[in-house]
Parts: sequence; structure tokens; C-alpha cells
Amino acid sequence: MMCDQPSNSSDVSSETTRNVILIGFMGTGKTSIGKRVAQSLGFQFVDTDDLIVQASGKAITQIFADEGEDHFRDLESQTLLDCSQAKNQVIATGGGIVLREQNREILQRAGYVIWLRTSPESILERVSKNRDRPLLHTEDPLKRIRAMLLERDGLYSSSADFIIDTDELAMEETAFGICESARVNFA
Ligand code: S3P
Repeated sequence: MMCDQPSNSSDVSSETTRNVILIGFMGTGKTSIGKRVAQSLGFQFVDTDDLIVQASGKAITQIFADEGEDHFRDLESQTLLDCSQAKNQVIATGGGIVLREQNREILQRAGYVIWLRTSPESILERVSKNRDRPLLHTEDPLKRIRAMLLERDGLYSSSADFIIDTDELAMEETAFGICESARVNFA
């Protein structure tokens, strides 16, 4: 199932359309899926983590190591606020974006929020491929993922307009589901 349907790409680019915002834990595919969705909807793709890295000239792991998580969270909140000023974008967010109430309020105003929900086991499989997640640099990442999900699931849930369970889906299928749901929502 493909998400690329350029012939329909103008369907959702009306004056009233806002943004599609992807939330969810690390490794749930927000960036890869978000790029596909943006292409299909004819929207611009932005990724809060990428914007932070570009603006600071440092990898996320380095920001955590040099300035600490609080500083990273400040950069993240400011970046989200900046992104929320524009429309017709797909915004992929960092997994911790829902932690701050001010971010949750911005999310609600900025567009259609979709939670990519994934099991701890699938997350572990996906994140073990790279080391750029400082919060998972631990002896037992699965235990850490479970603990973090316990803290965050309620926040993802209350921030989301729509939930997609990604475990059994290929990336293209998840992207297709998001595109269809966004088209209905923006119609
Ligand atoms: C984080 C998720 C990361 C990144 C940072 C913190 C988190 O983004 O923002 O390492 O707290 O879950 P991804 O969800 O894109 O990996």
C-alpha cells in the first residue's frame, strides 16, 4: 500500500488546513513516516529534533552531555512554538515533547495530532540500530522503555486526536492510514 498519491495532493492544501503532527516514543518511525505523509499531502516536512540539531550545530547526545536535558527541553519547546506558527506542514516531534504542559497546549492548537503507538519490544528492536538516543544509554533499555512508556502513555493519549498501532504495519501502511485520516479531518 503506497501513500504517494500526487494527483490528490491538493485535496488538503486549503486555506483552512493546519498541520499534521506526529507524536510517539523514540523509534516509532515519526521521521520516516512523516516524510512520506508530507510528500503525499503536498505539505512541508519538519522535524523538531533536526531543527534543534541544525540551530545548535550539535548532535542531540552532545546537547544532553554538554548542557543537560532541561536545556534540550527548552530548545524543544521553542522549536515547537516556532513550527506552530506555520501551516500545511507535517511536524515530526521528539518522543518527549508531551512531557511539558506548555507543549501539549501548543500541540492542541497547532494541528491534527497523531500518536504512533508501538509496543516496547518493537521500539527496542528499532532503536537498537543507532546510539543517538541518550535516554536509552542504559544497561537494560527494555526496562527503561517500559518505565518511560508508563509515564508517557497517558500524555500521548490525551494529546492525540487519532491513534495508529504500528506494530503490525509496514511504514507505507502507517503513512497511508495517516494520509487518509488527515484528508477526512481536513475535508
Ligand atoms: C527523546 C526523544 C528523541 C530526542 C531526545 C529525547 C525522548 O527524539 O528528542 O533524544 O525524550 O523521548 P525521537 O523520538 O525522534 O527519537
